[in-house]
Amino acid sequence: MTTPRPRSSRSRLITATGCLSAAVLTVTLAVPALAAGSTLQAAAAESGRYFGTAIAASRLSDSAYTTIANREFNMITAENEMKMDALEPNQNQFNYANGDRIVNWARQNGKQVRGHALAWHSQQPGWMQNMSGTALRNAMLNHVTQVATYYRGKIHSWDVVNEAFADGNSGGRRDSNLQRTGNDWIEAAFRAARAADPNAKLCYNDYNTDNWSHAKTQGVYNMVRDFKARGVPIDCVGFQAHFNSGNPVPSNYHTTLQNFADLGVDVQITELDIEGSGSSQAQQYQGVIQACLSVARCTGITVWGVRDTDSWRASGTPLLFDGSGNKKAAYTSVLNQLNAGGTTNPAHHPAADGWGQLHGDLLGGPEVE
Ligand code: G3I
Repeated sequence: MTTPRPRSSRSRLITATGCLSAAVLTVTLAVPALAAGSTLQAAAAESGRYFGTAIAASRLSDSAYTTIANREFNMITAENEMKMDALEPNQNQFNYANGDRIVNWARQNGKQVRGHALAWHSQQPGWMQNMSGTALRNAMLNHVTQVATYYRGKIHSWDVVNEAFADGNSGGRRDSNLQRTGNDWIEAAFRAARAADPNAKLCYNDYNTDNWSHAKTQGVYNMVRDFKARGVPIDCVGFQAHFNSGNPVPSNYHTTLQNFADLGVDVQITELDIEGSGSSQAQQYQGVIQACLSVARCTGITVWGVRDTDSWRASGTPLLFDGSGNKKAAYTSVLNQLNAGGTTNPAHHPAADGWGQLHGDLLGGPEVE
């Protein structure tokens, strides 16, 4: 167990007033003042969390880009280079060149890697798009096994399955060639990933699962609850968190994250970006950080790119640095919120794995808002 690091050698005086029986007791405590982390990774580390970004291999030769990435982030996701189409362009012929460029850059700079993504209905290589049935199921499992084995020991968390639930009000699975191989394709992928890399955290990752009252959120929640009940090896749930005015940060975000955590999994914000600008964007970013920090099992936050111009939706200026690499208002609000502190990551929590269950029991069920 560790407690949050003292943030400076200065001390500040805190006066606490409390009641003891009928008497009023006033105590003056010397508590080390907390020094602000000056980068996102340093500020997040104060509560035992990571702060990450998505990296594109094609930009690793841009020193302005790598300077910011190296300074601010300590968890790296390959934006596209570890997807199925990138790693297995022809069946059973794997090409790890660009994935390796990112993994090596991360490791050489002392960073950890989130693997993204082993099985997905999208970004399948052409040969896989045309497959179905047992042949597709076996090809998918072979991909999961080969890739997770190749990267064994180098991955902090894998997005084992990405975006398998439908949008809208059904709360059910998305139709796809993988889904049509049978409803158990997701758990089969998780079991294959666990066998190949027993030490990586295995995550289910999706978007539009932030609002607790949405059917899609409930669908994923029920699947994770079922997996935990039946011993399917799942360790974490990733919330992509792609927000804009049509899909704003929900006011019940804390509730969503806490309810998933109470199932006994870690939660991670995996692809955060928020379209907009100025103080409105800054405020929404702050809300997301606050929600994560308020949940002990929210173990880290990743933004989906470095500068606005690096984003998959650059015109929405959704990131923390502008195209010239300047820190935006959103950056400052994120840094300040990280420095404001929150719950400590469960890896540092005395009860560790037992905490989620205990908390859930005490609550008597999911939090409702
Ligand atoms: O590299 C080629 C380039 O050679 C070619 O000239 C150009 C022409 O279109 O395409 C380039 O590849 C594009 C690639 O991004 C790199 O920029 C692909 O077409 C394009 O499809 C691909 O988009 C990526 C998208 O996933 C694909 O699904 C985005 O960069 C990436 O940010 C986005 O990330 C996803 C997550 O994986 C899952 N969650 C949603 C998130 C945002 O859509």
